[in-house]
Amino acid sequence: MSTPVPAARVVGLTKTYGEGEATVRALDDVTLDLHAGEFTAVMGPSGSGKSTLMHVCAALDSATDGEVWIGEREIGSLGDKQLTILRREEIGFVFQSFNLVPTLTAEENILLPLAIAGRKPDADWFDSVVATVGLRDRLGHKPNELSGGQQQRVAVARALVSRPRVVFADEPTGNLDSTSGAEVLGLLRAAVDDHGQTVVMVTHDPVAAAYTDRVVFLADGRVVDEVRDPDRERVLEIMATMTAAAAAGAEKR
Ligand SMILES: Nc1ncnc2c1ncn2[C@@H]1O[C@H](COP(=O)(O)OP(=O)(O)O)[C@@H](O)[C@H]1O
Ligand SMILES: [Mg+2]
Repeated sequence: MSTPVPAARVVGLTKTYGEGEATVRALDDVTLDLHAGEFTAVMGPSGSGKSTLMHVCAALDSATDGEVWIGEREIGSLGDKQLTILRREEIGFVFQSFNLVPTLTAEENILLPLAIAGRKPDADWFDSVVATVGLRDRLGHKPNELSGGQQQRVAVARALVSRPRVVFADEPTGNLDSTSGAEVLGLLRAAVDDHGQTVVMVTHDPVAAAYTDRVVFLADGRVVDEVRDPDRERVLEIMATMTAAAAAGAEKR
């Protein structure tokens, strides 16, 4: 039996910002498989490289060294045009700050990536996504007529509507109250369970991490731990261990 191809994979991924003395190594030789049909959380202290990992995986930023694979394609070898198509067709992204177009309705925002690609939505799938995110009676509303939770549900629908190979979400519940946050997490979970969607989500929140199948922990741009079928207590334990290790490291220096 052959091993299934991961939805995304990074190999020896390194990303530095700046030059000389000012060089910051945001990612330091990260190798990681992101399994298809799984909900993965990425956790770690502020500055540990979580957003950089999401951006480089989603082809929103380039790697300094190493490889990023989306399915069977290594994206470093793709030209600008191919990258644009890859971002459009294979990747969905959910930002902490929603990033909706203020002049467009919820429906137009959801369909925007397809409209740009000149593609018609699959009507059944669109209906199913709208039903899942619970926005049927809000489709004609502009973002400023929606609550933060509703806006993020629009952003999740926008990410799901093209049926991308993988959805990356960078602290999608970071700007939401706990009730709206739970709704968004439930949606991402349902996308995985009901539609086999692959989702990778950065979070600070052990409760959010407990929705996922696997948590990968970053510190100083490296993968330092991981846990499967996480619960809140286990995640808190690992976070405490990491904080203690960081404090011990700081004392040595
Ligand atoms: N555009 C940038 N220019 C310079 N340094 C950056 C840039 N983006 C991120 N960094 C640095 O890279 C490191 C990792 O940042 P980031 O990926 O945003 O971490 P996290 O999302 O885990 O908080 C940090 O030290 C940050 O200051
Ligand atoms: Mg970040």
